[in-house]
Amino acid sequence: MRKRCHRFFYIAITFLLSVPMAIHTEELSADEFSKKYQSARWDPIHFKPAIEKATDEQCLACHQEILEKKPLETSPSGVKTSDSLAWYQTLDVYSGEQDSFHRRHLVTPMAKELMNLKCNSCHQGYNPQREVTIDGDTTHVNPLMRKLVDTEICLMCHGEFNFKVMGGLTGPWTTTRDRFQNNCLTCHRAFRTNRHKVNFLNADAIENAGLKDGDSCYGCHGGRAWYATPYPYVRRNWPRMSKIIPEWAKNRPTEYEQRFNSTSKTKSPQQ
Ligand code: HEC
Ligand code: HEC
Ligand code: HEC
Ligand code: HEC
Ligand code: HEC
Repeated sequence: MRKRCHRFFYIAITFLLSVPMAIHTEELSADEFSKKYQSARWDPIHFKPAIEKATDEQCLACHQEILEKKPLETSPSGVKTSDSLAWYQTLDVYSGEQDSFHRRHLVTPMAKELMNLKCNSCHQGYNPQREVTIDGDTTHVNPLMRKLVDTEICLMCHGEFNFKVMGGLTGPWTTTRDRFQNNCLTCHRAFRTNRHKVNFLNADAIENAGLKDGDSCYGCHGGRAWYATPYPYVRRNWPRMSKIIPEWAKNRPTEYEQRFNSTSKTKSPQQ
């Protein structure tokens, strides 16, 4: 009886252990793997219209590495990451260790405080039928533009400081800021006060940060100008706005396209 009991125990344990083992060691043949990979890669969620409604959770189910990957501590040739800073990484407005592009826009303290970017704020999908491939490649397996993003949104935060439209400013901010105690709000307490009402910015937090430090405003309006051109922002009405529209503003719209609308902010239940 005792022996049978032991045997039963033994069988039960081996069985229980073998279940997770089987799951772990389940090996896909090269062919099966390729099919699985291809179907994930061409998952309709990457394209319009599905991408417009996709939540971050849906994308992250397959792309968790986007938030986890960090820069190497040393390059393969031995240069320390902490010793190879770009110019903008030496400014006061840059904090913390070097980090990845995605993390700087999604999860670092500054990103969380001031911004509310989603995967599809930048990733708007593309049309695979229109993709270019490397010359002579007719297979269309590796289109060059697969990572295409909507660059208009980059320009909104990485454009030039457009002092030319700002009455009272005679030159770039770096040469004029001392006259205004480095404070944009000396003028912007009164002008264009209806700002940052889009779903990828935290409007109140931005105003608070700007009150403490003008560099914070400049951080998105010239301080990180990767582009040598300014963004033509929409011009919303503001209280006590003059009825005379300046020449440069005559064709400016007064609201953004629907997808940036803060009232249409659709948060998924999981968020
Ligand atoms: C079912 C899993 C899955 C989901 C969900 C998914 N992806 Fe992907 N995605 C893949 C795979 C697999 C590839 C191909 C990766 C490669 O070739 O390195 C890919 C490629 C990409 C690429 C191009 C990367 C490259 O290296 O060429 C981008 C950008 C991307 N996905 C963004 C997104 C976004 C944004 C979402 C959400 C809207 C999303 N993905 C949802 C599996 C997925
Ligand atoms: C601020 C804009 C922005 C946001 C927000 C953003 N991405 Fe990206 N993403 C980019 C850019 C730019 C690239 C690089 C394109 C290139 O290399 O040509 C990229 C590349 C990728 C790639 C290709 C792999 C790689 O590392 O280059 C994947 C996958 C991806 N993004 C997924 C996501 C997911 C998932 C989210 C949301 C959690 C997200 N992205 C949020 C702009 C963004
Ligand atoms: C809502 C504003 C906003 C948008 C939109 C935005 N950025 Fe940024 N970006 C920032 C801010 C703020 C920082 C500084 C983050 C930090 O230093 O922590 C930054 C940093 C960067 C950096 C430096 C990252 C590093 O680690 O050194 C690059 C490169 C960059 N952005 C490119 C882009 C591109 C390309 C796009 C469009 C796909 C984009 N950004 C969209 C606000 C934005
Ligand atoms: C001397 C006053 C003054 C100062 C200081 C000032 N601005 Fe302006 N700014 C203006 C005026 C005036 C306008 C245009 C108002 C209008 O639309 O008629 C303007 C417009 C803008 C616009 C919209 C530009 C466009 O093309 O629609 C942005 C963005 C902006 N300012 C950001 C800033 C930031 C950030 C700072 C600080 C780094 C700053 N301003 C400092 C007066 C000022
Ligand atoms: C995290 C990035 C970021 C920071 C920080 C930031 N802005 Fe902006 N700002 C934007 C973006 C993106 C837009 C375009 C969206 C919009 O107009 O709502 C914009 C638009 C504006 C506009 C034009 C909007 C309109 O309708 O008149 C003004 C003026 C402006 N910002 C001033 C400021 C001032 C002043 C500060 C500091 C208190 C500041 N910004 C800080 C990203 C930023």
